[in-house]
Amino acid sequence: MSADPSQTPLPGTNPPSGPALAKTLREGGTIEPVREILWGDAAGVRKYESAEELTPEMRKLIIRLMVVQADTEFASIQQHRPWLDGAPTLEDRWIEARIVADESRHGLQACRILRDFGEEGQQYIDDLLSKREGQHKLDAFNMKFDRWSDVGAFTCFVDRVGVYQLRAFQECAYGPLARAMPLMLSEEQLHLNFGFSVLKRISKDGPKYYGSKEEAQAAVHKWYPRALDMFGHSHSETSQKAIAMGLKRWTNEEARALYIKEVTPLVASMGLELPSPDFDRHIL
Ligand SMILES: [Fe+2]
Ligand SMILES: [Fe+2]
Repeated sequence: MSADPSQTPLPGTNPPSGPALAKTLREGGTIEPVREILWGDAAGVRKYESAEELTPEMRKLIIRLMVVQADTEFASIQQHRPWLDGAPTLEDRWIEARIVADESRHGLQACRILRDFGEEGQQYIDDLLSKREGQHKLDAFNMKFDRWSDVGAFTCFVDRVGVYQLRAFQECAYGPLARAMPLMLSEEQLHLNFGFSVLKRISKDGPKYYGSKEEAQAAVHKWYPRALDMFGHSHSETSQKAIAMGLKRWTNEEARALYIKEVTPLVASMGLELPSPDFDRHIL
């Protein structure tokens, strides 16, 4: 079986970890950060470490990417909020609270990158903080969580797209953005696992836990198309530019294909069915 390319470490980014890393450090070794740009037109050159070093085009694109990123983080807090004390079990409530805390921190982290862009960045932050439910950029973040199955499907499908977006930035050409990724990714992993477990429990245990298999299936049909839309247009020039600038590592279509490959067996393992990738799509 060939390895999943999305799981393959980037060249030069596979340092020892855990006990092996501790041993290396004890013996006087050091951790080498990845200093050079790994792909795109400037591959091999030092990463950009401050907003002042960026070309106007790159500056504009990073601001745009961070505004969308922060908007999704703040929007999802509003979506989760009613379930902080409405989730079916004590453990579910506790994980809801953790997710909200994580998303809040991710929003802060994206805004810290925006702050580096001075007054312009601060104006975007002020605007982001004023957004209420229904005013967000992406459809998936303007939909309410009417049922607990919505929380399961959202964290399973929509947060997972978020993970692909973050992984696309891993070790990217802009140092401050690249360095923000590892912690955000490890926190997002909890959200995905939780979403999978909630949806699976609804599907397999039904009313003993919450809802029914039919309800879990309806949530799959509701959120999967919105999740696929989040990757953006298939022939987007911006995504090509982002790769050439060393900011992202996949085109929208490549990332969407990797995602579908990952999600298909997961959904089958819950005893549920995925609609076709064309079902109810708004952005193709
Ligand atoms: Fe997040
Ligand atoms: Fe998340």
